[in-house]
Amino acid sequence: MRILVTGGAGFIGSAVTRLLVLERGASVLVVDKLTYAGDRRNLRDCEGRPGFSFLQADICDRARMAAAMAEFRPDAVMHLAAESHVDRSITGAADFIRTNIDGTFSMLEAARGYHAGLDAEAKARFRFHHISTDEVFGSLGPTGAFSETTAYDPRSPYSASKAASDHLVRAWHETYGLPVLVTNCSNNYGPYHFPEKLIPLVILNALEGKPLPVYGDGSNIRDWLHVEDHARALVTVVERGRIGETYCIGGRAERRNLQVVETICDLLDARRPMGTPRRGLIRFVTDRPGHDARYAIDCTKMESELGWRQQQSFESGIAQTIDWYLANEWWWRPLREQKYSGERLGLITQKAS
Ligand code: NAD
Ligand code: TYD
Repeated sequence: MRILVTGGAGFIGSAVTRLLVLERGASVLVVDKLTYAGDRRNLRDCEGRPGFSFLQADICDRARMAAAMAEFRPDAVMHLAAESHVDRSITGAADFIRTNIDGTFSMLEAARGYHAGLDAEAKARFRFHHISTDEVFGSLGPTGAFSETTAYDPRSPYSASKAASDHLVRAWHETYGLPVLVTNCSNNYGPYHFPEKLIPLVILNALEGKPLPVYGDGSNIRDWLHVEDHARALVTVVERGRIGETYCIGGRAERRNLQVVETICDLLDARRPMGTPRRGLIRFVTDRPGHDARYAIDCTKMESELGWRQQQSFESGIAQTIDWYLANEWWWRPLREQKYSGERLGLITQKAS
């Protein structure tokens, strides 16, 4: 199996690449621009392995994407490269529009040209797998869950840009016959998670005895999935998913944000006692503009059609994740010191860009 993974130096892309290279013996070309969120160190377990290669490039550069496909000759493209942080999309959406929408357009056109030039056998094998989020479906009330038939209703600049990219991918299937797969997944957590997102930010602030910012009253709900379970789901879909289909992936692990933060506090207190309980570091801060109340995924289709099951419960996964951060200061210390030290993002500071 030869797979071109965009965004492979990011959080989820690196988990997918590790799974493909180290466990599946696949040949992988990672294409990544190495933005603030991309880091070659996320791929250190794959460096030097047979079949692993890396190209630093921007997915918006269509000629380079076409050349990369012509040279590498992938059986599949797994497209994960994106701007991924909601708070940053509120402060400035330009990179989100460019990478998530224009970049996906560029990847689709490069893939269409590449696919058209393949022989019949390679053409039948080829897949373009677009990796997306459940945030495209909007915000749930207290009951119900998103599924493959839920109408799109994005509410943040990030989710709107991802929704646009999902629509482009489906249009390239319907119009040009590009063999596509789309997956929409709930919130991930786990090793190599850039410490701007809730879980790694809270782990590191709590470790260092710093305030733990909880937006609003902490009642917003996310459905958490361990990143390695997501990676296994994605590889299952690229191998066995039906062309043109959407698959929703989720953790069946709904938690209120405050519950998540308290769980992290308690687990860290047990591992590195601080004198006073870390729950005392919790601070309720100004809410995120347009803050979605609740996400939850019904992943019945993944389970019944493809036989996928998550392996980590939230309880085992969060404990494993905390232990990973405790053991891997070499990874997060330079990010906290040089790239992002934890200041508040996503408050509206100007009227228009
Ligand atoms: P991430 O921010 O950790 O990684 C994104 C990667 O894309 C980085 O390595 C970055 O360098 C690269 N990139 C950004 N712009 C690029 C460009 N123009 N050209 C080439 N590379 C570029 O993101 P993540 O959390 O790993 O998310 C990966 C994908 O999964 C995204 O498409 C995201 O929308 C989707 N997703 C994420 C979650 C989640 O909880 N994190 C959940 C569901 C879906
Ligand atoms: P985040 O990790 O940014 O993921 P997403 O916005 O894609 O769901 O945020 C998860 C939840 O945690 C979300 O409801 C916002 C909230 N949150 C906080 O309460 N405090 C924080 O410092 C951050 C970053 C997020």
